[in-house]
Amino acid sequence: MNKINSLRGMPDFYSDDLIRWTPVENKLEKIFKTFSIGEIRTPILEYTDLFKRSVGDTSDIVNKEIYSFNDRNDQSLSLRPEGTAGVIRSVIEKKLDQQQSKFWYMGPMFRYERPQKGRYRQFHQAGIEFLGYEEGQSDFELIALVCSIINGLDIKNAKLKINHLGDKDSKKEFSSSLVNYLQPFKDQMDEKDIERLNKNPLRILDSKDHKMQEILKDGPSLSNFISESANDLLLSIKETFGDQSIIEIDNKLVRGLDYYTGLVFEACSSDLGAQDAFIGGGRYDSLAQTLGGKNMPAIGLAIGLERLISISSVSSLNEKKLVFISSTSNIAPLAFKIANQLRNANSNISLDMDLTDSSLKAKLRRANKTNASHAFIFGDEEMTNKTVTVKSLRDDTEQVSMSITECIDFYKKI
Ligand code: HAM
Repeated sequence: MNKINSLRGMPDFYSDDLIRWTPVENKLEKIFKTFSIGEIRTPILEYTDLFKRSVGDTSDIVNKEIYSFNDRNDQSLSLRPEGTAGVIRSVIEKKLDQQQSKFWYMGPMFRYERPQKGRYRQFHQAGIEFLGYEEGQSDFELIALVCSIINGLDIKNAKLKINHLGDKDSKKEFSSSLVNYLQPFKDQMDEKDIERLNKNPLRILDSKDHKMQEILKDGPSLSNFISESANDLLLSIKETFGDQSIIEIDNKLVRGLDYYTGLVFEACSSDLGAQDAFIGGGRYDSLAQTLGGKNMPAIGLAIGLERLISISSVSSLNEKKLVFISSTSNIAPLAFKIANQLRNANSNISLDMDLTDSSLKAKLRRANKTNASHAFIFGDEEMTNKTVTVKSLRDDTEQVSMSITECIDFYKKI
């Protein structure tokens, strides 16, 4: 029989990989809690129209990257490429679009992109959405959160790029000025940028093409189209948080989703390689109305967990681990009872019961290869005497025989 492999760009994760995930996820949850943000979980599958109307049907995500299929009822459904649209769909449905709320979520997202280091077809995001808040205080609070994430997860060489896209009208005005400016250069543009010029001109600003970047140097600048208060917001954010993170105002930052208006930002790290953005976000004041809801100004962000985890030095390597070796000639149920008494006595330790039938020597050899600090040995002699032998796996100190109560006391204090 042929074996069945996983899909390209959709990796499996084993505990050796996940040992880096859990501490980062826990730390993020803690940070979210310190900002008093509540959790929300929405489905992975939604109607395709939700993403067409929010992320935008001119965006690369909806155009080329979405995983869509028709269900048995012939309705077009899609795996979520991002989390914001589902959250807004949900609050409109629950009539929460008339109030203010703060949500966080974590989970898998799906985009049919060309897989490479840091870019997958199934990847994970942690996201935040502040709903019902006008431009102003919520922008500062969200940037404060970005700084807390960068500092709390000990991210090195990080840079936070910020920009302001203006409101719907100034975005439109700038777009048409850009299109007018670029018309004479059409024959020098590659196919991708010509397509953007017709469908979503703002995206040309982050073209990777060098020639395009040269042409854009003399083109209209977004900063001339946005209001004075928008420019002030950028300067004030830079001034307020500049000591906590490297903040750069980048008038070419436009982001790849159509719903943004106002402040947009991206956190990048030079330690990441080509896919260097590990947080992306911004304001999306018209999205709720576009999805049939009330006027609900909002701002949010999403963190790419694979990328964040690869550069965070928060880890659980110091987590305490011990091994319990039962080496009696017959299965000793008492060994399992003692092991559970130990686990109940100190839940900060992970106690690994060796479940193989191998010899004591082989079990000790295996225990030595883990990062366990001690082995608790329970053999025939220990069973007769109701004792446990405690052996250090880190140094040559003599092993010690302890009564079960002594052993529990020892375990509590490790
Ligand atoms: P986004 O910039 O598309 O924004 O994604 C946020 C982050 O997800 C990126 O900065 C990156 O770290 C990670 N990411 C995106 N695509 C991939 C991929 N194929 N493989 C690995 N990581 C990836 C959003 O998704 C918006 N919903 C953010 C937001 C929330 N804006 C407002 N609220």
